[in-house]
Amino acid sequence: MTIIAHISDTHFDGGERALARVRRTMTYLRGCDVDVILVTGDLTDHGTVPEYDEVKAELVADIPVLMLPGNHDVRAAYRQVLLDGAGSAPINQLRRAGGLLFALCDSTIPGEDEGLVAPETLDWLGGVLGEAEEPVFVALHHHPVRLNNPLLDSIRLRNPDDLAAVLRASSAPRAVFCGHAHAAAAGTFAGLPLIAAPGIFSTTRLPWTTTDELVWENTFDRDDVPGVVFHVVEHGELTSHFRSIAG
Ligand SMILES: [Fe+2]
Ligand SMILES: [Fe+2]
Repeated sequence: MTIIAHISDTHFDGGERALARVRRTMTYLRGCDVDVILVTGDLTDHGTVPEYDEVKAELVADIPVLMLPGNHDVRAAYRQVLLDGAGSAPINQLRRAGGLLFALCDSTIPGEDEGLVAPETLDWLGGVLGEAEEPVFVALHHHPVRLNNPLLDSIRLRNPDDLAAVLRASSAPRAVFCGHAHAAAAGTFAGLPLIAAPGIFSTTRLPWTTTDELVWENTFDRDDVPGVVFHVVEHGELTSHFRSIAG
């Protein structure tokens, strides 16, 4: 059995609030008996080197911590601090952790909030899935389906059909994990379970939970507590458990 602790959208910004929420989360997770921590993007708020220094200092544990970029991240600074590399090509990573294979896809478009799985990333993922002789868990930042908040849905993945075609061409993918929506949510995509992690930094309001007209300024609930999804993988089966992390 492997347990993945899936968190997202830490949005390190140099401020106390983001730092405190991540520290609360990581303290909680270090006390849990899990095998892998997965962080599905928007690690930083502005993609600066000092913000990635915070990521490097705070998102650490005795177990593997897997990360990928979101629309608030910047590839060059991400690579410089977290991967000891250089360049602005998509950051696609094949990682083995907790006995499982993870395909971590870069779904960002530099300078834009909307997502896109670029042709080179589709080729990379197709190659990974084509060669895989075991289940693969696919992760990306942007949600590839509508998650029922019109504002967030306006910046979802732009080319879900391209990604779905690559996933459907192989029997290896077992689930898709994403972030970006700052919303704990589950659905299906390309015939696979799709699970979006809650946001560490804030939580998206759903239209039917408020009488306010949702605009960008009020769509994120900053008072809600951070949350985590525990994905349990056993004999190839997946169950996902959602928990809030109280202060
Ligand atoms: Fe975010
Ligand atoms: Fe995002």
